[in-house]
Amino acid sequence: QDKRESLYVLSQWAGKWFRNTLWETEAGRSIGLSYFKERGYREDIIQKFELGYSPDQWTQLIEEAKKAGFQDEYLLDIGLAIQRDDKSLYDRFRGRVIFPIHNLTGRIIGFGGRTLKTEKSTPKYVNSPESEIYHKSDVLYGLNFAKKAVMDADLCYLVEGYADVIAMHQAGVENVVSSSGTSLTTGQIKLISRFTKNVVILYDGDAAGIKASLRGTDMLLEEGLNVKVLLFPDGNDPDSYAKQVGSAAFKAYIEKHQEDFIFYKTRILLKDAQQDPIKRAEVIREVVTSISLIPDEIKVSIFIKQCSTLLDIQERVLLTELNKIRINRA
Ligand code: CTP
Ligand code: MN
Ligand code: MN
Ligand code: MN
Ligand code: MN
Repeated sequence: QDKRESLYVLSQWAGKWFRNTLWETEAGRSIGLSYFKERGYREDIIQKFELGYSPDQWTQLIEEAKKAGFQDEYLLDIGLAIQRDDKSLYDRFRGRVIFPIHNLTGRIIGFGGRTLKTEKSTPKYVNSPESEIYHKSDVLYGLNFAKKAVMDADLCYLVEGYADVIAMHQAGVENVVSSSGTSLTTGQIKLISRFTKNVVILYDGDAAGIKASLRGTDMLLEEGLNVKVLLFPDGNDPDSYAKQVGSAAFKAYIEKHQEDFIFYKTRILLKDAQQDPIKRAEVIREVVTSISLIPDEIKVSIFIKQCSTLLDIQERVLLTELNKIRINRA
């Protein structure tokens, strides 16, 4: 289709413009590039991920895009420009560092822009809206860079953010993708399962990350994937932890601390339940519910056995519960 192709071309052009602005302009170098360097990103990594900068100007990108022959309509369609009530346009990403989002073949389909301000009132990230070439729920950030490493390792690390993907590449771990904050979708899981059936969730070690890891676990299990989980200490995310301990220690940590979902979930839930028998019963039900989502009966039977040992409940009781849960769902 002609229009879609034009939108790809415009995205590619904008990506290049953001990149040039980062490397070739005074503002780009002193603000954008210094920001990435302060975060500890190497130049080769900044190049590889095609990171950029949008100057703190309302219309510079729009005017240059027009000069290059792109129509307003297209700038609006892929959300590079936003329209005011009086119909005038302004740059969505102005004053932000730019993380281009690529499709599987490496073409740019959207952007994430991070603010350089620290006040809480400014949203940390602004992202491209849905468009004819960008369907958020079917995209995993970094998959174009990761797919070969995912197949080689037969394993995919799943992280929350753009910065986490980039920091892990810099640490030498390339089989990593991000769902970019949006909660994981079935489309994204199907995408992963084209390359591997083994996923390790490395979400942020804060309350939101824990919650998302439990939900993500159930969704991945339901699609037949094998799931392990690892959380970083003290609220760290992969990016901040890699920076804190260095590449070698980071790699050693993720090798050593990943846990099978059943141990992870039991541990997290039991922490809240303590010795309260009613709460413990609820934990058991929750763990059995996760197991009940697994499509493979042999795995189900193995996990029920493990669960029986782990929670010190007879297997027979767990199987009865499993069947009840399945009947209620049907
Ligand atoms: N996100 C978003 N909009 C926000 C906040 C987050 O789209 N206002 C998405 C981004 O893709 C971000 C991811 O959710 O990368 C994870 O969010 P968070 O952990 O808050 O950000 P970090 O990736 O850790 O960002 P940074 O390290 O740059 O502070
Ligand atoms: Mn859509
Ligand atoms: Mn987070
Ligand atoms: Mn984070
Ligand atoms: Mn972070």
